[in-house]
Amino acid sequence: MMKCLQSWPEPIVRVQSLAQSGIKTIPELYIKPPCKRPSNDLVLDDATVNIPVIDLQALAGDDQSLRETTLQLVSSACREWGFFQVVNHGVSHELMKRARETWREFFEQPLEVKQEYSNNPSTYEGYGSRLGVEKGAILDWSDYYFLHYMPPELRKPTKWPALPSSCRNLIEEYGEEATRLCGRLMKMLSLNLGLGEDYLLNAFGGEENVGACLRVNFYPKCPQPDLTLGISAHSDPGGMTLLLPDEDVAGLQVRKGDSWVTVKPVPNAFIVNMGDQMQVLSNAIYKSVEHRVIVNSVKDRVSLAMFYNPKSDLLIEPAKALVTNDRPALYPAMTFDEYRLYIRTKGLWGKSQVESLKTHE
Ligand code: OGA
Ligand code: NI
Repeated sequence: MMKCLQSWPEPIVRVQSLAQSGIKTIPELYIKPPCKRPSNDLVLDDATVNIPVIDLQALAGDDQSLRETTLQLVSSACREWGFFQVVNHGVSHELMKRARETWREFFEQPLEVKQEYSNNPSTYEGYGSRLGVEKGAILDWSDYYFLHYMPPELRKPTKWPALPSSCRNLIEEYGEEATRLCGRLMKMLSLNLGLGEDYLLNAFGGEENVGACLRVNFYPKCPQPDLTLGISAHSDPGGMTLLLPDEDVAGLQVRKGDSWVTVKPVPNAFIVNMGDQMQVLSNAIYKSVEHRVIVNSVKDRVSLAMFYNPKSDLLIEPAKALVTNDRPALYPAMTFDEYRLYIRTKGLWGKSQVESLKTHE
């Protein structure tokens, strides 16, 4: 691993500590240039606009036409939004609630307890407060905890919080349910692309080899929410993301053309979105859509993002069945390791990475 990735370029400041210190103005390091401030964009957040909400109930039943309709809804959502919410997804609501509560409890502990898990930029595992090692970069208004659940050889419970005492078991339980749902979603996406049901999972290395990592985001209250972002605009670098959003605080915004749509979380729903590797595999039939998180001055927000990724050393390239004379391969083959190294060095910059890979168009 490159030497520059072994430590952070500047001392780490926990955003949560900053917020709790009672400051009325935020440090300059968090102030976005005017063109990147949330206040300067067109935001569609009236109650009627939302990403599609899809009921997956029919997929468990045997009514073929209802199944088809559901798959069709997923297909449109992937093509038109790159984002959707799912309900009746089979994951216990009680577990979802417990997952949010347990992680809230983790972040509410004293700083010393959390510092024990401070992360570094070579693996990112643990308690962190920045992405990227560029000195002087403008930072986001959030802290996070990052850990690996899959593949089994990367699952190291000793790197997970020992406190609250229920945390490690919760991660195991949540990891199992969340990856199971990701597996079901991958089948739907494969079928919808006209590929065999297992095509995408196999391209990711199969059930035993896929990567699944969890990033729990904590967005503290912010005294000047118009000047900063909880997470800057980005697309997720991996395959697919399953997000468990905060129950009562909105914050996620998804790009739609030239404006942003604020996601209104539906009770007991997960938010699903396509990552860059899915854009590559589908030869851009599915897009990894840009999104960001805004913060507010009233309430902290917690979210759990499960990143479902290809095995890191497999070449990812457009599915052959989706490459034609009219639509040549838009991306070269590249491993997720190579792709991720680029991002971990630079930080997240909108969609520049996957776009810059394009070979045609
Ligand atoms: C992410 C992300 C959104 C959210 O972790 O990549 O986009 O609502 N999170 O926290
Ligand atoms: Ni994201």
